Amino acid sequence: MIGNTNTLELLVLLILIIFGLTEIFAGRLKNTKRTFSDWLQEAGSFAVLMVAIKPLIFLAVLGLGNLIVPDWHNRFSQTSFWILLPVFLLVDDVFQYGYHRLAHEHDFFWKLHRPHHQAEEMGFFVSYRNAGLYYVLMPNIWWTGIMTFLGGGLAVTVGLILKQLVIIGSHSTVKWDKPLYAIPVLSSMMTVVERIIVTPAFHYAHHGKSKRDGISDPNGNYGNMFSIWDQLFNTAVFTRKFPTELGLVNDPKENWLAAYFYPLVKSGNPESELSAGYKKVSTTVNEPASVEVKNGEKYLWCRCGKSKNQPFCDGSHHGTKHKPLLFEAKKDGVIKLCNCKLTNTAPYCDNSHLKEGK
Ligand code: FES
Repeated sequence: MIGNTNTLELLVLLILIIFGLTEIFAGRLKNTKRTFSDWLQEAGSFAVLMVAIKPLIFLAVLGLGNLIVPDWHNRFSQTSFWILLPVFLLVDDVFQYGYHRLAHEHDFFWKLHRPHHQAEEMGFFVSYRNAGLYYVLMPNIWWTGIMTFLGGGLAVTVGLILKQLVIIGSHSTVKWDKPLYAIPVLSSMMTVVERIIVTPAFHYAHHGKSKRDGISDPNGNYGNMFSIWDQLFNTAVFTRKFPTELGLVNDPKENWLAAYFYPLVKSGNPESELSAGYKKVSTTVNEPASVEVKNGEKYLWCRCGKSKNQPFCDGSHHGTKHKPLLFEAKKDGVIKLCNCKLTNTAPYCDNSHLKEGK
């Protein structure tokens, strides 16, 4: 079982090297603004995942499996690879979809996943940029161990190689899908492909800074290998353009120690979500906000009630189930935007704040 993880890790390393070399030879790293802290965080996180977290999870599954259900060890070793492979991949990916979505909608898990979205440049290593605890709690890594324990080692190895190709490919600056959109016959084919697997354009939209660019949706496109879960659960946004601004709005740029070791290490910056005692507080008030807008311009209205820049979104909704509302001004002038977040005509004030009991 552990031999299986070693082979897998070497193959994943090979995929990373191929994408890394492609990025280098394509000149993608020439003008990089990545800091030493960025590299350290990504390479360090990858190394710890491969050398410690995954093997330890495999050992834990093996030990627990032999203790609790010893008869199930290698139970499916005679089952067809062609049955085990899709079962492994579909269960693995739906687990990861759910976990990834939880990491965007739950405050504690968001803090573990936040380092991934701090990256202001995409790249072959970015997919491994998360807090260490994020990986320890990741259900699909445990599922990988369980499938291997049950005798599906080959399906796990082949499945994870395919999955890593898609995931590293969707984070890489190589953007393998971009030239295909320009060729009519391949463009039609890509309409089918992007509805099955996650393409770079689909995933870049998830990393875009804000919905205001008309391309990005940081609160959508949660899929990892397959885009089918986003379509099933209504979180898919299909685009063939790539956002120019990546990362987080108002990122206080904490160092890699707090980003990787949270909650064991906290940021010393009180403005950081990773600092001790940091709380997002309600910033709603009853009176609507009168704001000057320009015809045709897009604005992002805060729906979560925690923005420090009311009535507009400042990214504080990350780690909640709320998403900002994008709207376009239809005329020049002053409009009244809801600030109590109770309106039924969002983003505009409908006087809900005046109703009794509100
Ligand atoms: S800060 Fe984005 S919705 Fe409130």
